[in-house]
Amino acid sequence: MARLCEGRIALVTGAARGVGREHALGLAKHGAKVVVNDLGAGVDGSGADTTPAQAVVDEIKDLGGEAIVNGDDVSSWDGAKNMIDQTIDAFGTIDVVVNNAGILRDRMLVNMTEDEWDAVIQVHLKGTFAPSRHAAAYWRQRSKETGEKVNARIINTSSTSGLYGNIGQTNYGAAKAGIAAFTIIAARELARIGVTVNAISPTAYTRMTDNLREYTEEDIERRDPRWVSPTIVYLSSAEASDITGRVIQAGNGRVAVCEGWRRGAEIDQLEDAEAIGPMIRDMISNVRMNSGMDGLELD
Ligand SMILES: NC(=O)c1ccc[n+]([C@@H]2O[C@H](COP(=O)([O-])OP(=O)(O)OC[C@H]3O[C@@H](n4cnc5c(N)ncnc54)[C@H](O)[C@@H]3O)[C@@H](O)[C@H]2O)c1
Repeated sequence: MARLCEGRIALVTGAARGVGREHALGLAKHGAKVVVNDLGAGVDGSGADTTPAQAVVDEIKDLGGEAIVNGDDVSSWDGAKNMIDQTIDAFGTIDVVVNNAGILRDRMLVNMTEDEWDAVIQVHLKGTFAPSRHAAAYWRQRSKETGEKVNARIINTSSTSGLYGNIGQTNYGAAKAGIAAFTIIAARELARIGVTVNAISPTAYTRMTDNLREYTEEDIERRDPRWVSPTIVYLSSAEASDITGRVIQAGNGRVAVCEGWRRGAEIDQLEDAEAIGPMIRDMISNVRMNSGMDGLELD
């Protein structure tokens, strides 16, 4: 097996369980040294315990790899700085940040509390921004000092909930759509210093999704988190320096490149609100509908 990430230094957030654990193991199997970040929170974000992150580190070491634990909260500005600093102190540099940590507080909009909104936006959106921001500052400094581009990566975690719009998740979906937008903008900003920024939208059977419906054994196998991680490993490799600003779905039998918002039908601007109504209706009838939750056309 070719080792695609030999010698690369990767931080994976929320890597104690589920999808993030597979990313950490996949990167380590491909030769990366890994910082396993995890607060050890419940699905709703409550609590803290670094035992599961330590178990992943032990697993990586048993495979002959190198890894350490970081127990900071991704949504803390100082915690995020600490996890980047700890990575650099332990392994000399950082090449890859995989922003994966996440929580759920599902509720229909009419009943959603301020806390449910804030917690989800905080962990996903700020928890993607903060580690990315501190890593980007480090990479810009290095690029300035050497006069060369770094060959670094940010890989974020979006969701079909945000890309396509899942009922009951205005908080989570807004954060995940925000992460897709963040990905595209950061990719444009960081290209000149050699940092690619992509996002994946995973589908996996984890504690976050195991209660959504009844799963057959075949469903569970198709949704094993190990199917998501090859995409992360490839995007993390030095070879993937020309792929940036992309959102890629992975898991449940498919890897798919998503296409973003673009202008459909258009008319010249009008001052007359009455006249514009029929024209808007006409344009709507001539463009594609928003996709269904499977990312495909609605019939
Ligand atoms: N499982 C899926 O089908 C699916 C679908 C779409 C998106 N996602 C996303 O994939 C990512 C991983 O989800 P999962 O299914 O593996 O869930 P999971 O609950 O198994 O793992 C999430 C991990 O993040 C950690 N975490 C939570 N808050 C944290 C914080 N503030 N700081 C550090 N760590 C924190 C948790 O302790 C946990 O170990 C999430 O961003 C999730 O939104 C998952």
